[in-house]
Amino acid sequence: MYSLSDIQNLQQQSKVFLESTSVTPADIDLLRSVLRFHEYRYYVMDEPLLADGEYDHLYKKLQILETENPQLITKDSPTQRVGSSLGASFNTVQHLVPMLSLENSYQSEDLLDWDRKARELTGLDCITYCVEPKFDGAGISLFYENDVLIRGITRGDGVAGEDISENIKQVRSIPLSAPFSKYGISQIEIRGEIFLPKKAFEQYNQSLILQGLPPLANPRNAASGSLRQKDPKQVAKRNLDAFLYHISYYVAKDQRIPETMQSHSASLEMLWECGFRSPVKEMRVLTGIDEVIRHISEFEEMRSSLPYEIDGMVVKVNDYRLQEEMGMTTHHPRWAIAYKFKAQQATTKIKNVEFQVGRTGAITPVAKLEPVPVGGVTVASISIHNEEYIREKDLKINDTVLIERAGDVIPQIVKSLSALRIGEEKEIVFPKDCPICKTTLYKEEEEAVWRCVNIDCPAQVVERIIHFGSRDAMDIRGLGDALVRKFFEENLLTDIPGIYKLDYQKISALDGFGKKSIENLQASIEQSKTQPLHRLIFGLGIRFVGEATAKTLAKSIQHIFELIEKTEEELLQLEDVGIKVAGMITAFFKNTSNLDMLHQLQKAGIKMEQDKIAAPTSGSPFDGHSFLFTGTMEKLKRSEAEEMVEKLGGKIMSGVSSKLNYLVVGENAGSKLEKAKKLHTIEILNEDEFLNMIKNF
Ligand code: IVH
Repeated sequence: MYSLSDIQNLQQQSKVFLESTSVTPADIDLLRSVLRFHEYRYYVMDEPLLADGEYDHLYKKLQILETENPQLITKDSPTQRVGSSLGASFNTVQHLVPMLSLENSYQSEDLLDWDRKARELTGLDCITYCVEPKFDGAGISLFYENDVLIRGITRGDGVAGEDISENIKQVRSIPLSAPFSKYGISQIEIRGEIFLPKKAFEQYNQSLILQGLPPLANPRNAASGSLRQKDPKQVAKRNLDAFLYHISYYVAKDQRIPETMQSHSASLEMLWECGFRSPVKEMRVLTGIDEVIRHISEFEEMRSSLPYEIDGMVVKVNDYRLQEEMGMTTHHPRWAIAYKFKAQQATTKIKNVEFQVGRTGAITPVAKLEPVPVGGVTVASISIHNEEYIREKDLKINDTVLIERAGDVIPQIVKSLSALRIGEEKEIVFPKDCPICKTTLYKEEEEAVWRCVNIDCPAQVVERIIHFGSRDAMDIRGLGDALVRKFFEENLLTDIPGIYKLDYQKISALDGFGKKSIENLQASIEQSKTQPLHRLIFGLGIRFVGEATAKTLAKSIQHIFELIEKTEEELLQLEDVGIKVAGMITAFFKNTSNLDMLHQLQKAGIKMEQDKIAAPTSGSPFDGHSFLFTGTMEKLKRSEAEEMVEKLGGKIMSGVSSKLNYLVVGENAGSKLEKAKKLHTIEILNEDEFLNMIKNF
């Protein structure tokens, strides 16, 4: 897509734009190209070359230019992704070519049969196939004319779908324009799958749970639901992604078949070159079905480590001429077949239901199951969310249920097998009182969740301490769930500030505590005192304040106590802060026991202010040199190492490029290391070499 010299020029130009105070209308096209380039690096390649803040800065410059000169706005400008709300329904649009389905197969014999038929049809002894993952999301079709995205449509009934162009534009890995004309193509229809990466799915579900709503069953439902949202701005928040894997129609400019349209793998390469996320890295071109079968079984092993869901693999005849010869049925093409992985499902019995009290007092019913292996792990309990969910799924104690685990996603109940009931099943009865502190439970009208409103409920206190020390909050390594519970039971830890007043003498008297483990715990507690402000805010566990909101809040203040003074109106000005969140924040900072907790934390030496950017020490060997850390380091935290570099006058880069001077490599370093090696100009250091460099300075 971009040659090395393009990359260097665009990167150079980005810096020029970042530094210049006046960008003129004459620069507008170049600025747009620079932004498109960075979107591609970030969303398609996953190797950004600018810090997020730098990108935002450039984007704002473009927005200002376009506001001042509306006649210069183009349809494919990066600013045009943000659409306005859609009407009551989407328009129905015919697909240029029907969106067919795929024939399914479930075992290697099916593939052998299919290959035999394919060889009979083509008269060949051996066929070359392209094998790629079967992405588990929502099918879409994109149409580009003269290099510009004209529309995006859902699959619908395969003949016509819904025009969801505005929502499609929120998927940042889909380019609004792409240089197909370079390949002699004037019109093109591309098929692919929109999906929610596993991490985005988890975050989305987390936010639903925080709002007291039931989480979605799987990323596929989340993706198709997101695409049909009426407000494109809401779609943008879901962090959808897309793989494009098929060209269903194209018009060549001079009637000649472009070289890129001779085979499926070449067409995927072209899509990649045009800036799409096509599965070029995930595909394999293999000769003969035996190799295909071997590859599929190897790929299945990696399934759970992928950052997105797949439900199988797709085998396609690679040569387009052969594809044409083989043709299609009304249901599916004869030149492709899906191989579906075994469903990671199992049946088991609900033995009992326990009611757990969460950090915010939410009561979650958890079904205790007869332990059963599913997709490589044994599942013994499953959250059944709330009363509504229990009713919808018609669950009873002693029911046999079908359960499912998709990739790393939390196991869930698919359905209860009511035909197997023998009359010994019992209704699941929701308690009226908190199972821990016996306070009467309370439910707001529009909520599905019952809550214990006693903020001193021991179960809530424990969960709040666990949350404070958790990885995304203060990241106190070694202070895991089990330990917090144990300390709480032993009365050694009764509230959050107590973490910093632990009596290590008493702890050493407990079973299983050696000198080393106590030292480690003490060290990580000490280290947590200097965590950035947003982690502290997130750690406080204010309802509805997730990581993103905590970051927004931290950015808006210098010191945490400024939040005491903020009014709801002021908070509402901040991005992501709605009325519910603002109310929770002001209530939290009005509460005297919360303020008392903050004062205790301050006394314990927890950093409560925004990091100051240290003035670089001049004359240091780090001066002006750029660094990037990759992989897991043993002795240093990445944030510490980066801070050291910055203090000494160096810069931290976000990706590998010719601008990078040093790459510091920890355990399991991946593509960044490979790339740095290829550039030959980057000095590669291991952790000790980096530490030496610091020491010697
Ligand atoms: S090719 C004409 N390739 O699976 C054939 N489909 O169950 C076009 N899917 O409707 C489809 N990953 O939505 C193809 N790598 C892949 C795919 C894929 C997922 C979906 C697609 C299709 C469905 C059939």
